[in-house]
Amino acid sequence: MRQIKEGIYWVGAIDWNVRNFHGHLTSRGTSYNSYLIRDDKVALVDAVKETFYPEMIQHIREIIEPTKIDYVVVNHIEPDHSGSLAKIMEVADKAEVIATERGRAGLKKYIGEDFDCTTITEKPQLSLGKNTLQFVATPMLHWPDSMVTYVREQKLLLSNDAFGQHYAFSGLYDDESNESILWEEAARYYANIVMPLWKVVLKALEALGGLDIEMIAPSHGAIWRKNPRKIVEAYRRWAEGQAAQKVVIVYDTMWGSTEMVAKALAEGVASEGVHVQLYRLSNSHVSDVVTDILDAKAVLVGSPTLNANLFPTVAYFLSYLKGLKPKNKLGAFFGSYGWGGGAKKSAEEELRAAGIELMESSLDFVFRPSKEELMRAVEFGKRVAKRVKGV
Ligand code: FEO
Repeated sequence: MRQIKEGIYWVGAIDWNVRNFHGHLTSRGTSYNSYLIRDDKVALVDAVKETFYPEMIQHIREIIEPTKIDYVVVNHIEPDHSGSLAKIMEVADKAEVIATERGRAGLKKYIGEDFDCTTITEKPQLSLGKNTLQFVATPMLHWPDSMVTYVREQKLLLSNDAFGQHYAFSGLYDDESNESILWEEAARYYANIVMPLWKVVLKALEALGGLDIEMIAPSHGAIWRKNPRKIVEAYRRWAEGQAAQKVVIVYDTMWGSTEMVAKALAEGVASEGVHVQLYRLSNSHVSDVVTDILDAKAVLVGSPTLNANLFPTVAYFLSYLKGLKPKNKLGAFFGSYGWGGGAKKSAEEELRAAGIELMESSLDFVFRPSKEELMRAVEFGKRVAKRVKGV
């Protein structure tokens, strides 16, 4: 039995082995955090992926008979949280489900047209006895139906996906986890899931700003109890597009020529005292690359031309990046071609579509870069670093 606040219990499940979360690499697994509030009335806030239902119901039974659940709050309908809802409702058959309007419409699609529930417009808050649940809609953070639940008397925010991390560990809290892993996973989660929604994040932070928050319990990963303001501030920093003096060079290479230029660029950037990180896409997952891009000021993308177009791994990366629309980034293309070219045009179109400000003309060259071309790349790297430093 894992009590996180008086009468409030974690009843979720840990998914140690999931490695792909709709295309996003989850090398440390995840958890589906579900919370049971035992008061005069009993409420379950969020549930788990369908396959983890037996674990959740066992945790609930350690505290209370599921038939005694009065309310099931669905902060978000994505199946990693609501996939087990139909099964819960078979045992908690008298419970009233609460969701947003968009949540109700979505649940009808997932569960069936006969399904119905109360919306937060009808019930913006709910007294359970000693505890009052206050519902705050956070549309598009990260689905239209999303909301959070604030337990007023306990100063507890049940934030669903917001402030989460795909991180399976045996503890419950931020201060029980490995701090550097926790922050790496919080950044990875933001970069791969939340990044394109920066306007929504800033709006949601404003809406949540009036709440007195002592603990944030998301639906994935660790509960923030040591310093919940720190993750809120990190979300603000990321949503505002604040960046470090850092350049990410991401490329692939066919016969090593584009890689030679990538390394020459890195040499130029580093010589100016700016941090630089290289990723060859054949050996790297796009989730890792965009996590590093989150707080980088510039992204340099390299690709050989293959069949008059981008190298396939680079095309995939740029398509992924375009969906995430990183904010306030500088960028440029570099790459090798044999005769007609083509990668440069496609890459620059994709970078623009990703919202990246293109720097001076790209570095493309025929076959192997000459000594002079490598020197040009070093100089180009220096100029990128100077822009990053703002000098
Ligand atoms: Fe964790 Fe959007 O579901």
